[in-house]
Amino acid sequence: MTSPTAHFNGELMALERIAISPLDRGFIFGDGVYEVIPVYAGVPLRAREHFERLQRSMNEIRLANPHSTERWIALVMELLAHHPGNQSVYIQVTRGAPPKRDHVMPKDLAPTVFMMCQPLASPSREAIENGVACITAEDFRWKKCHIKSTSLLGNVLARQMSADAGATETILLRDGFLTEASASNVFVVKDGAVAAAPWDNLILLGITYDLLVRLAADGGVRLEVRAIPEAELRAADEIWLSSSTKEVLAVTSLDGRPVGSGKPGAVFKRMHALYQDYKAKLAQSRAIAA
Ligand code: PDD
Repeated sequence: MTSPTAHFNGELMALERIAISPLDRGFIFGDGVYEVIPVYAGVPLRAREHFERLQRSMNEIRLANPHSTERWIALVMELLAHHPGNQSVYIQVTRGAPPKRDHVMPKDLAPTVFMMCQPLASPSREAIENGVACITAEDFRWKKCHIKSTSLLGNVLARQMSADAGATETILLRDGFLTEASASNVFVVKDGAVAAAPWDNLILLGITYDLLVRLAADGGVRLEVRAIPEAELRAADEIWLSSSTKEVLAVTSLDGRPVGSGKPGAVFKRMHALYQDYKAKLAQSRAIAA
């Protein structure tokens, strides 16, 4: 099998030819940020919003952005020319490779830029129709979860807990309140009204979360952004996960107990349909523009 084409510091090359220094601060310190953009039939979904978030992450870690959003999108399209169909584009920028290991941020270091594509693993029909199982855990991560940092050990440890339990995600609670899941945002529904955790430093503001909030407003779905106590999570009629790869997915079992009826609920079905419509309209508008 030939090695897929990837992007490395301005050049397209075979993934297996990319060599990164062991002194790269991404490797040594996890000193970098990243994005994951879903692509449907060659059309990236909300690419601009993803690169705006990358800029916010870079501002937070004091890393100069090597490219404008327009340039980033052009680079993604260049890479996508080698990867037709549905893809997820992974973009990582680290603080680069200094000559020695030192916690202090080196000055004037060129960042390391890496991008690759993987086939988009969208949820299966089975998962959409029956929902998925999740477990809960205490949110033991740091207090800068709004940065989309490559330092993901906390998320990896949290995700492995659910993997070990045969579940799809680990939903996290900090000081008795819902934050998010190890690689997704979380919504709860009670009596037809949706609630989502606030956009603060304790969660990553998902591009999908933001899109769902907009689609709910336009689609007449009641949605509030506010603190969600653990008791409300446990008494919810519906729970959903959202992410660029999961889209919106119903959670039908939490810690081994059914959520609501144990089947994806009516509000989920409405939201899932709004999301699919959005994707279909995007594809249509690009086809007309082309
Ligand atoms: N993860 N919260 C966390 C901790 C995440 O890692 C993610 C996404 C989200 C959802 O963000 P978005 O809707 O922008 O995908 C929320 C990506 C997909 C990942 O790490 O692979």
